[in-house]
Amino acid sequence: MRKKIIAGNWKMNMLPNEAIQFIEELAPLVKDTENEVILCVPYIDLFYALLTAQNTNIKIGAQNMHFAENGAYTGEVSGKMLKSINVEYVIIGHSERRQYFNETDETVNKKVKVAFENKLKPIVCVGETLEQREAGKVEEIITNQTKLALEGLTNEQVENTIIAYEPIWAIGTGKTATKEDANYAVKAIRNKIAEIYGQTVADGVIIQYGGSVKASNAKELFEMSDIDGGLVGGASLKVEEFSKIVNFNK
Ligand code: 13P
Repeated sequence: MRKKIIAGNWKMNMLPNEAIQFIEELAPLVKDTENEVILCVPYIDLFYALLTAQNTNIKIGAQNMHFAENGAYTGEVSGKMLKSINVEYVIIGHSERRQYFNETDETVNKKVKVAFENKLKPIVCVGETLEQREAGKVEEIITNQTKLALEGLTNEQVENTIIAYEPIWAIGTGKTATKEDANYAVKAIRNKIAEIYGQTVADGVIIQYGGSVKASNAKELFEMSDIDGGLVGGASLKVEEFSKIVNFNK
């Protein structure tokens, strides 16, 4: 049985003092969950978040990284740097990075490889635009993004990759994919992984849903056969709301 992983993506929100307070308040509310809890926070918050989350079941992740180990890349942060302060997870290829910061399937693939080299667990985002959905291309787009993101990885690495299916039209819009549509898309991703890496690997991969997840819809989404939890944006900025999402099955 795959476990459920609930990850918050704070995006460019929360100052260090707010991060500390949030984690102090969240920790007692989620301490008894059997689900994995991750907060992906801005770089500036990482160190404070890691310290505050010590001795709790809350894991900390970053929202991006560069693929080079070091060098003349002004403003960037490497996987090695993240690992040096014990960051465990890193989101790679979020649609906002693809849209605003020229992230491509190729850079996503490079970053995923470097994440594993640094023993970071990547959360790889894939998802279609509204236009692509309306053109009936959902499956083609998301399975291709998945294939390219995972190219050249070992079976073991693929099994340790978290994939987040985030339809772009559902991000920050209040529009959620229906549980059936979301499960269908997640299943398509799993089938593609099975085709390339075998059924055992595909059965082990965690595939989340993201896009306007809230306390009121988390349960119905996360109880679908192939959806293994969620990547949560806006609703992860409110302690009470996020704790309810984490505790969806309690
Ligand atoms: P919202 O939950 O705000 O729609 O954001 C989803 C997301 O982009 C998480 O990575």
